[in-house]
Amino acid sequence: MLTLHGIIELRDYVKHWRITSQKIALVPTMGNLHAGHLRLVERAQDAAEHVVASIFVNPLQFGPNEDFKNYPRTLEADKNKLIAAGTELLFAPSIDEMYAGDREQITRVDVPGLTNILDGKFRPGHFAGMATVVTKLLNMVQPDVALFGEKDYQQLQIIRRLVDDLSQPVEIIGVPTVREVDGLAMSSRNLYLTPSERELAPQLFHTLEALAQELRDGRREFQRLESEAVRRLSTIGMRPDYVAIRAAGTLAAPDNGTVNLVILAAAWLGKARLIDNIQVHAENAQNTLPLERPHRSKVKST
Ligand code: PAJ
Repeated sequence: MLTLHGIIELRDYVKHWRITSQKIALVPTMGNLHAGHLRLVERAQDAAEHVVASIFVNPLQFGPNEDFKNYPRTLEADKNKLIAAGTELLFAPSIDEMYAGDREQITRVDVPGLTNILDGKFRPGHFAGMATVVTKLLNMVQPDVALFGEKDYQQLQIIRRLVDDLSQPVEIIGVPTVREVDGLAMSSRNLYLTPSERELAPQLFHTLEALAQELRDGRREFQRLESEAVRRLSTIGMRPDYVAIRAAGTLAAPDNGTVNLVILAAAWLGKARLIDNIQVHAENAQNTLPLERPHRSKVKST
C-alpha cells in the first residue's frame, strides 16, 4: 500500500486511473480503525477497481471543549489493518496540508436544515467542519463512489445532500452499522469507556431496539416514546443528549403515516459520547393508535 501525504502527489497518482476510466472509491476516516471502517473498505473494493482510504483527524469538526487533542491516533496500526484489507492507497495529510492559512477564515460548507438539528444542536459547527473536509477530500480524489457508515446517520444524510446540492459527480454508498457481539456500535470513542461502562454501553442499542419494537407494534405517541427512552437511559446511568424519532432520509418530524422511520440517540457514558440509530419500517403506521393528544395550549377554546 502506498501512503501519500501531499495533495499534489495524490492528484497525480489518481489521475492516471481516471484517464483510463478505472473506477475509484474513497473511504474517508479519522483513523483508529476498527471492523466498521474495514467493512467500508471491503464494500469499496466491491464497488470500484481502486480504493483510496484517507486518515485525517479533522480539527474543523471538533468543538473547543471536545476531544481533538485526545482523539486516538494510531497510524502505524491503521496502516497494517489497511494493508491486510488489501487497500491500495492511503492519503494521510497533515493539518497544514489540508488547511493552509488561517483556519478561522476557511470557506465552510453548510447544509441548512440538516447541520443544526439533532447532533448539530449539541455540537455547534461540527457538521459544517465535517461537510467541509468531506467536500475537500471529494475534490482532491474525485472518486466515482464514496462510502460512509450508517452509524453516523445524520452525517450520511448531510453528505448525500451536499453532493446533490453541489452537483458533485459521485455516488454515495451507505454501509450498515457494524456492532460488537453485545450490540454496541463499534466506534473509536468506545476506548474512552472504563470496563464497567463498557458493560453498560450496549444498553443504548437495546433501548433503541425496544423503542423500535413499540413503533412496529403501532405506537405513535412519538414524544412520549422519546421521553420514555431518555428516562430509561438516565435511570441506568447514562446522560442522554437526545432520543429522536424522525422520518428516514430527510430527518423531518414524522407524522402518523410515516412508514420509514429512524430513531437516533446520543448519550454520555463517563467520558464517552455514544451515538447510535436504528431504522424502522413501521408498516402499522396507517392502522394506528391515536396520535399524541394535543397540548392544552394548542386546543382552541370554544
Ligand atoms: P470516523 O469516525 O473515523 O468514521 C469514518 C467512517 O466510518 C464514517 O463513514 C463512519 O460512519 C464509518 N463508521 C464508523 N463506525 C462504524 C461502524 N460501527 N459501522 C459502520 N461504519 C462505521 O466519520 C468520520 O470519521 C468523519 O466525520 C469523516 C467522515 C472522516 C470526516 O472527517
